[in-house]
Amino acid sequence: MENIGAADIGLHYDERSPITDELRGGQVHMWYWYDDQDDAPLEEAVHRITRKVTDTLGLRPGERLLDAGCGPGETAVFLARRYGVRVTGITLSAYEIKRANERAAASGVAELARFLYGDYMALPFPDGSFDAVLALESLQNAPDPARVFAEFFRVLRPGGRLAFSDFSLESAADPDRLAVFMSTLKLPRLPTLQEWLEYAGDAGFKVEEYTQCGPRVFGRKSKYIQAAMSRRQELLDKFGEEALGEFAGRHRGFFAPRKDQIGYVIVAAVKPRG
Ligand SMILES: C[S@@+](CC[C@H](N)C(=O)[O-])C[C@H]1O[C@@H](n2cnc3c(N)ncnc32)[C@H](O)[C@@H]1O
Repeated sequence: MENIGAADIGLHYDERSPITDELRGGQVHMWYWYDDQDDAPLEEAVHRITRKVTDTLGLRPGERLLDAGCGPGETAVFLARRYGVRVTGITLSAYEIKRANERAAASGVAELARFLYGDYMALPFPDGSFDAVLALESLQNAPDPARVFAEFFRVLRPGGRLAFSDFSLESAADPDRLAVFMSTLKLPRLPTLQEWLEYAGDAGFKVEEYTQCGPRVFGRKSKYIQAAMSRRQELLDKFGEEALGEFAGRHRGFFAPRKDQIGYVIVAAVKPRG
């Protein structure tokens, strides 16, 4: 297993998030297209994932939500506005903290959504301090998933809910292609759906819902490439040749696997009341 430290992950997102933020409307995560004829714009396709994952939490006004691995803040801002929840977002990226706090202020929810540096391997919060925890495509970088799930369990109150989404391994054929994908994204491992469910179960969570929608996510990679290419000149003007070249290079590694090798899992679980 490759050993990747918190500082490396923070830098990885400092570099990766600005262009992704621009392309995907502040959401540094995947998209969901029903079929190749689906003409939803990229930002909407990405927002479908935001809604699909967070809908499983059943949030209510005033609840305390931890957004663990919050990216540049669009998901938290959306949830604060839509449900009136109080969100604490943590990330390892200085860029993301700054961008997320600016976004919350610009959207008028700075009172409800705050963002700070934090490592989900050792959460700086007391036991039982949240009603819900969200990890939207952030667990992929976890050096020790068992420890992270134990931390989520600890900071949730009894009856609190967890939702997470991430890549899953669907076929280990073509290991070289997988290795490029994993090193590009800085993934220490790529669990199967079953392994993801076991991490949650072993920490004490009761899994209540899960789905594997990889064919509509990674499987639609060509639609994403098309959408990104249509904005190439605009991105070039804003970020410059060097940054865009580096970003495009990373995409080559990201899209190295076959469509059917990379799944996408969404899991909802609860901390039993005892
Ligand atoms: C793929 S991005 C997803 C961001 C956001 N959830 C979204 O959907 O837009 C992964 C996020 O996980 C965060 N992350 C990775 N490892 C982390 C750790 N050990 N502790 C806290 N956040 C972490 C990164 O800083 C980044 O914000």
